[in-house]
Amino acid sequence: MNVVDLAALGESFTRDPYPVYARLRAQGPVHRVRMPEGGASAWLVVGYEAGRAALADARLSKDWSKASPSLPLGAVSSGPHMLRADPPDHTRLRKLVAREFTARRVEELAPRVRKTTDELLDRMLAAPDGRADLVEALSFPLPISVICELLGVPGLDRDSFRTWSNEALGATDPDVRTAAAASMARYITDLVRDKRQRPGDDLLSALIHGSDGDGDRLSHEELVGMAWLLLVAGHETTVNLISNGVLALLTHPRQLAALRADPALIDNAVEEMLRYDGPVETPTYRFTTEPVTIGDTVIPGGGELVLVAMADANRDPARFPAPDRFDISRDPRGHVAFGHGIHYCLGAPLARLEARIAIGALLDRCPGLTLDIHPAAITWRSGMMIRGPHSLPVRFGA
Ligand code: HEM
Repeated sequence: MNVVDLAALGESFTRDPYPVYARLRAQGPVHRVRMPEGGASAWLVVGYEAGRAALADARLSKDWSKASPSLPLGAVSSGPHMLRADPPDHTRLRKLVAREFTARRVEELAPRVRKTTDELLDRMLAAPDGRADLVEALSFPLPISVICELLGVPGLDRDSFRTWSNEALGATDPDVRTAAAASMARYITDLVRDKRQRPGDDLLSALIHGSDGDGDRLSHEELVGMAWLLLVAGHETTVNLISNGVLALLTHPRQLAALRADPALIDNAVEEMLRYDGPVETPTYRFTTEPVTIGDTVIPGGGELVLVAMADANRDPARFPAPDRFDISRDPRGHVAFGHGIHYCLGAPLARLEARIAIGALLDRCPGLTLDIHPAAITWRSGMMIRGPHSLPVRFGA
């Protein structure tokens, strides 16, 4: 099978990967690709049916010890955690935190999310020139404040953590990824040690001292992995739901006007934002444990890397009519922006709550909101996993 060199496509693929995926989809559900991240070879699954099936395929392991030793992966993350585990370890880890993220528990956070959003918007709107970078002003600080508060790490060194996290997930050089992951691991190990000495009424303390009722507890390495996963999810995903969502609205004035005219459309609008330009382009790595046939292609066993182009699944016309149209009144249900199967995003209720409140309040308080940059001039985060702009300059009127 020919290798499609995605790394060679450079900046244009990062900015707009959708046409590339669509062309591949027209040829079949599986392709051998060279990734921008370190030039590693992977099997890329495109299209809705094949992608959704691959996300839930138990023959595709999330355990990195199953990866072929020849893959130049870099370290990426710290400690064992849910997105690197298969059952029964995965089941056990997920059970320990699942109750903290139910829709009901998360709804209790709404007043806190509203207050933080209002404070951030107060600060943004105080700018005398009526301009801001929305990523800095709202999209980044809101989710990270919420997850830090939930975990009980209010003093997190956000700047360092953000740099490491961005590099660990998106740097094209595996050595840079590995170094960033090591720095994060050291930092989180210290956080966990501090928390052990000074427990509080927060999730990290509960994970250190509590159990799930069956007497189960996390090992030190698992605690570091859990804290890493929750903090990184707070850094890397919801920020881009808010930014990509606002960008979609500002580049589609009729959709923006419809949402302003009927703010109750916000729930469906957020689902459409997730479908149309979600924060995760290809989710975390999967490795074959046996030969897996998709379409006419047999992907060999032995730890081959499989990537699912979730962004493409959400733009498959076989599932979503006129998929490249951003339409907040369509039915976007069934999108896979939060994944599918046993690894379905644990933070989905929290991400939805934050996006609804942030985008709703932003529109409410900024009646004249516009982009302050030509959309083609926006620069996008590198790598195939996370999709979002580095910055999003806006004007809200002085
Ligand atoms: C819009 C924001 C978000 C998006 C688009 C998103 C997307 C995803 C996706 C696609 C997966 C599955 C990955 C895979 O199968 O390889 C996932 C898993 C996960 N997400 Fe999110 N996420 C978001 C926000 C959050 C937040 C705010 C949290 C935590 C507070 C979170 C915590 C997790 C965890 C713990 C997992 C692993 C679940 C498991 O393996 O069982 N996510 N997320």
